[in-house]
Amino acid sequence: MLSKKVTEALNKQIELEAASSQYYLAMASWAETQGLKGVSAFLYKHADEERMHMLKLIRFVNERGAHGLVPALKQPPANFKSVSKIFDEVLHHEVKVTEEINKLVDITLKEKDYTTHNFLQWYVSEQIEEEALARELVDKLKMVGDDKGGLYFFDRDLQGIAGAAGGGKAEA
Ligand code: FEO
Repeated sequence: MLSKKVTEALNKQIELEAASSQYYLAMASWAETQGLKGVSAFLYKHADEERMHMLKLIRFVNERGAHGLVPALKQPPANFKSVSKIFDEVLHHEVKVTEEINKLVDITLKEKDYTTHNFLQWYVSEQIEEEALARELVDKLKMVGDDKGGLYFFDRDLQGIAGAAGGGKAEA
């Protein structure tokens, strides 16, 4: 059985994962309106992954005899300045998520909840990967700068990444 403290912390994380999904979905939709098929496919897939992170937490909380709550969410921004601004935001956001996961892990140790601690290790590993990928994309975009041709290739690369992982049904 989960303690009240761990349940509350997990429900807070459920909200953050849901908000992440909405945020990336808004980015994906904007990118699609700009004709950036690869960027949008990648971000649609990323939004799906965040939803999966949320679901995994809800199911875990319920399995442990508590109640995973579906959160109300604020509307995310509709418009973005550029692709590089989007990926700066993705990286910034993922760093924040990592910090929250670490806080959550800390709470489980203080509460001596080793089952939840063990469950959260999946999220710890996932965050390492997500941050690394976001950093790689931010670095690539720095090299691209204002070069339209470079952006074309970046978009094509992302289409490849989204396709290779079997997600991203963003194509028209
Ligand atoms: Fe579920 Fe990207 O954090």
